[in-house]
Amino acid sequence: MKYSHLSDTAASKVELPDQERIQHIKKPRWIGYSRAKDILEKLEDLLVHPVQPRMPNMLIVGETNNGKTMLVEKFRERHPASENPNGEAVKIPVLYIQAPPGPDERGIYNAILNRLFEANPRSESVDAKRDRVVAILKRVSLGFVMIDEIHHLMAGAYVKQRNALNVLKYLGNELRVPIVGIGTAEAVRAVQTDPQLANRFTPEVLPKWTRNAELARLMSSFERVLPLKEASQLSASPLIDRVLDMSSGTIGEMSTLLNMAAIHAIKTGEERITVSTLEGCQYVPPAQRKQAAALM
Ligand SMILES: Nc1ncnc2c1ncn2[C@@H]1O[C@H](COP(=O)(O)OP(=O)(O)OP(=O)(O)O)[C@@H](O)[C@H]1O
Ligand SMILES: [Mg+2]
Repeated sequence: MKYSHLSDTAASKVELPDQERIQHIKKPRWIGYSRAKDILEKLEDLLVHPVQPRMPNMLIVGETNNGKTMLVEKFRERHPASENPNGEAVKIPVLYIQAPPGPDERGIYNAILNRLFEANPRSESVDAKRDRVVAILKRVSLGFVMIDEIHHLMAGAYVKQRNALNVLKYLGNELRVPIVGIGTAEAVRAVQTDPQLANRFTPEVLPKWTRNAELARLMSSFERVLPLKEASQLSASPLIDRVLDMSSGTIGEMSTLLNMAAIHAIKTGEERITVSTLEGCQYVPPAQRKQAAALM
């Protein structure tokens, strides 16, 4: 095999003109890793959890740019909404919303109604919205509600935060479905201040990447999907250490860095990633971006 370091898809792209290869590199892609698979399985279990008065909830927690939204998108792809052939309502196994920018009860209902393509009259009272949301969601065979950026609900005044958290409790109880929150560590702290919520939300952490066998597997996967003609040995020293060091260990930064390096390797004709490609590809590490912003 000529390109044994590549996946079949990447091997089929590697002889394309440079611009097309670059386009391919920039496309979104999913790379499986153990922790993601583990959380996906737990979500599957939660989806078929028997109905009980107090459903378990989950909080997917991680730093920004560390793959939380990609993970839940993967799960949503597996469980798309569908017409219910035997009944009149559609089936929505997973309702995904983004939390409104602040702890605002009306905003939560608006996000749900918008996601369901329901009318959202400005004049409608919060009480009426709440009733309507619950009535609709009871009709759609809902599996669970996912709320991304849930830490937004923890911004603002304490009373409003409590109110927003009570909305989650109310929806969970009323609909008898699990609530899956997705957010940063701040969300965990907020949930823990409420004993009732603390024992219902199990945190599932997407930790930052460290130097271990799992990281080596991730680097090998990146190498297999980046259509370069030569092997780079990303999973070995010194490349693996440099990538981890420059990116500060989030999958999003590693992906950006490796994409930029691969594009650089195509443009220079080098066709493999080396330490000097990493340094020469104009990637600005997150730490330096913060410094630059502080100087502005
Ligand atoms: N499984 C994966 N395979 C390949 N790339 C990934 C994967 N997960 C995340 N990424 C990369 O990381 C980037 C950031 O991921 P994502 O948007 O899921 O982060 P996040 O944790 O939701 O961040 P934020 O808290 O800022 O919303 C993605 O745009 C993608 O480039
Ligand atoms: Mg996100």
